[in-house]
Amino acid sequence: MCGIIGYLGKQNALPIVFDGLKRLEYRGYDSAGLVIFNRKKAKSIKAVGKLEELEKKITGLSLEGNLAIGHTRWATHGRPIEKNAHPHTDCQKRIWLVHNGIVENYKELKEKLEKEGHCFKSETDTEIIAHLIESQFLKSPSINLEEAVRESLKKIKGTYALVIALADQANKIVVARNSSPLIVGLGQDEYIVASDASAVITRTKKVIYLDDGEMGLITPKSFRIFTLTNRDVKKQINQIDWDINQAAKMGYPHFMLKEIFSQPETVENSLRGRLIINQGTAKLGGLEMIEDKLRRIKRLIITACGTAYYAGLIGEYMLEEYAGLPTEVELASEFRYRKPILGPKTALLTISQSGETADTLAALEEAKRKGVLTIGLVNTVGSTIARQTAAGVYNHIGPEIGVASTKAFTSQLSILALLTLFLGRQRDMSLVMGRRIAQELNKIPQYIREILSQEKEIKKIAKKYSKYNNFLYLGRKYNFPIALEGALKLKEISYIQAEGYGAGEMKHGPIALIDENFPSICLAPNDSVYDKAISNMEEIRARRGKI
Ligand code: M6R
Repeated sequence: MCGIIGYLGKQNALPIVFDGLKRLEYRGYDSAGLVIFNRKKAKSIKAVGKLEELEKKITGLSLEGNLAIGHTRWATHGRPIEKNAHPHTDCQKRIWLVHNGIVENYKELKEKLEKEGHCFKSETDTEIIAHLIESQFLKSPSINLEEAVRESLKKIKGTYALVIALADQANKIVVARNSSPLIVGLGQDEYIVASDASAVITRTKKVIYLDDGEMGLITPKSFRIFTLTNRDVKKQINQIDWDINQAAKMGYPHFMLKEIFSQPETVENSLRGRLIINQGTAKLGGLEMIEDKLRRIKRLIITACGTAYYAGLIGEYMLEEYAGLPTEVELASEFRYRKPILGPKTALLTISQSGETADTLAALEEAKRKGVLTIGLVNTVGSTIARQTAAGVYNHIGPEIGVASTKAFTSQLSILALLTLFLGRQRDMSLVMGRRIAQELNKIPQYIREILSQEKEIKKIAKKYSKYNNFLYLGRKYNFPIALEGALKLKEISYIQAEGYGAGEMKHGPIALIDENFPSICLAPNDSVYDKAISNMEEIRARRGKI
């Protein structure tokens, strides 16, 4: 999950780009680098490891310039070593670029370029792009950077967010996007380009979101967005709706903890103004224009990835049980590659925190091609999925900086509950049932507060079990997807093997794993399947398993 930042303006670009890199740190990276341009010269500095390593190399150097680009790299093609860190350049060290994405046909392009005499210094797919652009300049020396980039991009198969500059023309940046997010921040006499809003928010809240197949030319006084076929595109200027504090740790040791503790407020924010308790329904402004269409749908398909997919699974249970709407949930990465049957009265709901997940986006495009009504449940305002769906609901929880989803998950569940109310009341849900659900939903933030107040006890339990290498998470009905999500969180954050199971599946295989060294986390609230959950726990106990 790489990060991109670029600056062109009147200030010294170095501290601004370095600060942008720091704001992108949360995405995870194994190396970082930047290039600053001054007096027709480019100075590039790279370091493996944390940004402090890069900082050490920069400290003491007198690097000034009004244009710089930077990158945090998470190795995909090529090891995490200094020569593979971005920015990359051509043979002449004239063209400099940073890239998020993958060049799929890089092997054949590299072979061709090597035959033409280009020398490669890194093991990356990205470096190909610099040499492709160089080869365009060699063929037609009089073309400008944007033309050279445009011609090069026609040869590339794959995904990219690209920021490109020339050492001898440090008064312009060219950007391009295909399936990897890129925004242009419009500041006071300056432009900041980045892979996400958290890197630009300290300088401006006005941003333009590039769409796939679009390029941009940025100069100190203007910008122009155009297509790969050189057609001008008029873009909307958007306002980032969250502030800098939401992208700061605010005294917590890390973002994930801050986000866990923000859940009473984030769930409140997701419900605010939407829960109409006395009418036992929900008001979802973003769905108003498709209200009639929603009344007529006979089937809903939810598609998403990872945590958002698990939220979708719970949505399916809620929508079928309370709204009486046949619902299916499918991994976006499967949906996009198979031939799903989508009838005329079907709607597709995509769930995504970032609004940029490639598989979810591809699933959405597939559904749109088939003429299906599309809805988004998205957190990031102005993101691609938010823009590509016919209608939608935002989470309103500010940026989720922690890579492991926490507050987005509980917000997604809250909104799926609101959607259940809304669609249920359009159908057969009674006023009494609607009111009951609405009243209970309204209590959720307080319940979360009560859970979080047990922080010390939770920590003790975590410490007690921290030495075990394997865990099972078990739940039934609504807690089955919660078990899947719990196991995902444990493996993602602690690198501990963990599996989530429907507790009823225990006897069909996984029980063989249980012994005193294999603890199980059983989710057993006092609900309609409580007794069943207890009998599963007996089975575990009989095998000396810890619960
Ligand atoms: O941004 P999205 O919600 O589309 O991301 C989908 C998944 O990658 C994401 O939910 C992932 O599984 C979580 N961050 C894991 O904690």
